[in-house]
Amino acid sequence: MIAWLEPVIPHLKALHILALALWVGGLFGLPVMLSRHDPAIGQADFTRIRLASHVGYVWVVTPAAVTAVVAGTWLIFLREVFVPWMFAKLVFVALLIGFHAWVGHHIVKVGETDGRHETPRPRGPLLILLLPVLAILTLVLMKPGLDDIPMPGWLTEPRDRQLPVSDVPR
Ligand code: HEM
Repeated sequence: MIAWLEPVIPHLKALHILALALWVGGLFGLPVMLSRHDPAIGQADFTRIRLASHVGYVWVVTPAAVTAVVAGTWLIFLREVFVPWMFAKLVFVALLIGFHAWVGHHIVKVGETDGRHETPRPRGPLLILLLPVLAILTLVLMKPGLDDIPMPGWLTEPRDRQLPVSDVPR
């Protein structure tokens, strides 16, 4: 690794954690807000909650998601985390991105259909969201070996040159 980039790592990790706290917090909050998009609450309140969820999604939660993913991707290369638990983490991150898109779909629908769009109840989706979030945190904090999971050779063997030597547990 390029030596002068080493001091950047703690700052990048702090940015990663700050961004993912905003992202995941938003993913838990937005379905609850969506369930309040009920025309029965009256036009003024409907407009207020609709604006809050739209602005929150577009200007806070989505930029936080992009920041978390970009900072995380940089961290993979700077910390040389080419290890099985990281590949497993990325599978669960993909589920999180799918959930993010699902929330966005409902926010757009609510905006385009004059209060006629039926918004989902939050309990089920939030329980589903808990699964990838807990899985990611377990993987990243415990860094389990996962040696029993068969990996394809192209992920684990050097391709004509030596893999970088990293201090991240595998
Ligand atoms: C594409 C998305 C992501 C990528 C590429 C990524 C990548 C990384 C990398 C490379 C590290 C440094 C690991 C180390 O130095 O040992 C890290 C740290 C961390 N990540 Fe992510 N991450 C992503 C998304 C997430 C998400 C969605 C969460 C939580 C829900 C998360 C939670 C954490 C935590 C808590 C740490 C600090 C772990 C430690 O320092 O021990 N990451 N991430």
